Amino acid sequence: MRILGIETSCDDTAAAVVENGRHLISSLRSSSAAIQQKFGGVVPEVAAREHVLSILPTVRDALHAAGMDWQDVDGVAVTRGPGLIGALLVGVTFAKSVGSALNRPVVGVHHLEAHLYANALIAPIQFPALALIVSGGHTTLAYWTDHGQLAVLGETLDDAAGEAFDKGARILGLPYPGGPAIERLADQARPDRSITLPVARLGADSLNFSFSGVKTRLRQLAADVPDRAPELAFALQEAVAEALTRNIERAYEKYPVAHLYLAGGVSANRRVREKLGDWASRRQVTLHVPPVELCTDNGAMVAALGYYRLTKGERLGREEGPQTPWPL
Ligand code: KG4
Ligand code: ZN
Repeated sequence: MRILGIETSCDDTAAAVVENGRHLISSLRSSSAAIQQKFGGVVPEVAAREHVLSILPTVRDALHAAGMDWQDVDGVAVTRGPGLIGALLVGVTFAKSVGSALNRPVVGVHHLEAHLYANALIAPIQFPALALIVSGGHTTLAYWTDHGQLAVLGETLDDAAGEAFDKGARILGLPYPGGPAIERLADQARPDRSITLPVARLGADSLNFSFSGVKTRLRQLAADVPDRAPELAFALQEAVAEALTRNIERAYEKYPVAHLYLAGGVSANRRVREKLGDWASRRQVTLHVPPVELCTDNGAMVAALGYYRLTKGERLGREEGPQTPWPL
């Protein structure tokens, strides 16, 4: 069963073909990041307009790269939410049109859950597991017992982990998206233990996250030591990685599972992968992380999750559109 996956929740127009929820056949992405850079972040109206221009060529090219015709598509999966409403509308409307024209089933999936399914393209998901989704809009820690069974244990109370990178980059005068730019700058840092950023201490039992204090302190330090940008970028990366690792340890004390699944744009970060990898080997937990190109938004993760949903008989109803906000 070959599923066409479509993703338009933020600034990437992405399409992919995945066979039986496991085998990636083709995946393409057209990002409006270069245009958004002029504004220092994603402007919803600009994102929506760019999706309108890119969606047809992106899907057509993904099918072409898979050596397929429209008729070869067995089902369509699309991100239904959460995300920017105008951006989601483009993907959902397009998916419904394709489904209707080809007489194929269409399913709408949750963007955060889809991120986790980038891991399903590497090996079948093993339950029970802890799941950590770290993206530009969300930081969500969950206990994952089966397909479709995710219990949220913790979320961010303010900025998301990716937002901490994006806002931190802005403070340091780096371009959007901030994560890759911070990572590159941090690589140039000189060892300096005197420059650190605080990891928020929430209640002893809390599995929530908070990154606004990091941002505030970074802003102060950037004014105090403007010539130490690489060390500040390093400290920011370290603080985010530490906050994530600390909550994973706390969650593990309550849910001592054998598997940890990481997903979302921030999981592309080498230091985050390394720190959680060290934690996992200490605890003899298997850490699953998607390949870097499948960490950020893509159509393959949507198609992979869509496969499980479509084979269970789930369908996007004629009257159903984007859903945002949409709790996990
Ligand atoms: O999952 P994603 O592509 O989109 C959302 O669903 O939000 O995540 C985008 C976020 C951005 O905040 C971006 O700065 C961050 O992921 N990101 C990174 C890296 N690559 C992307 N953060 C840290 N290090 C990276 N290498
Ligand atoms: Zn995402």
